[in-house]
Amino acid sequence: MRFDILTIFPDFFSSPLAEGMIRRAVQDGLVLIQTHNIRDYATDKHAMTDDRPFGGGEGMVMKPEPLAAAVEQARGSGVDARVVLLTPQGRTLDQQLAEELAGEEQLILVCGRYEGVDERFRAAYVDLEVSIGDYILTGGEPAALVLLDSVIRLLPGVLGCGDSAENDTFSRGSRGGLKYPQYTRPRIFAGREVPEVLLSGDHAAIERWRFLAAVRRTISRRPELVAAMEFTPAERKLLRENDISLPPAGNGGE
Ligand code: ADE
Repeated sequence: MRFDILTIFPDFFSSPLAEGMIRRAVQDGLVLIQTHNIRDYATDKHAMTDDRPFGGGEGMVMKPEPLAAAVEQARGSGVDARVVLLTPQGRTLDQQLAEELAGEEQLILVCGRYEGVDERFRAAYVDLEVSIGDYILTGGEPAALVLLDSVIRLLPGVLGCGDSAENDTFSRGSRGGLKYPQYTRPRIFAGREVPEVLLSGDHAAIERWRFLAAVRRTISRRPELVAAMEFTPAERKLLRENDISLPPAGNGGE
């Protein structure tokens, strides 16, 4: 998969892309990531990428021509790239959107700055606007990095064997809910013991415990997620036997 990042701060990405799983994915040729300095596409002699808003008002607006030229360059002549603008006004990034984007061949990530980008660039070039949450960042760069990270770890071959994105919190294996709590050595820490069942070697019992712990955790921390979780009749019985009651609406499993 190929990512092209359009930014006025290309150095912002140097260190994060050179670490850990992303670096390995790049080295292994699973992803190609290129940053493009929007300033290089400015046409005036001062290399301006922003200007004052028509109609007056605060701040600066990113000019459309350098952004458009950078998109054209990033697009190249190859595949049909999806152009994504990072903006607090966009669709909120969640696991489902990350999975959807992981199916693309090329993403062009446009990092907005200042008070926003010229509306005509947005209308003519942007396929999808993405926000990483209801708060305002200094620019789209941290958001692009978050999107990149969440998508890259889903690509085939990126997670080491033994790891799997299937059972992540929010993923299908967790039915869109939270994941169960995890424990490792030592058996006792700060006076607290590892739940006995996890030491039992009884895989069916462990799976049952994890299922119940994950549902309990989702109900207590993110009750709004529970309505969309689907359970088999056997799982519903298990929940009832353990005094876990689900909200009545939206449990589409039956
Ligand atoms: N730019 C500024 N704030 C943002 C946010 N929350 N998500 C995406 N891009 C942004």
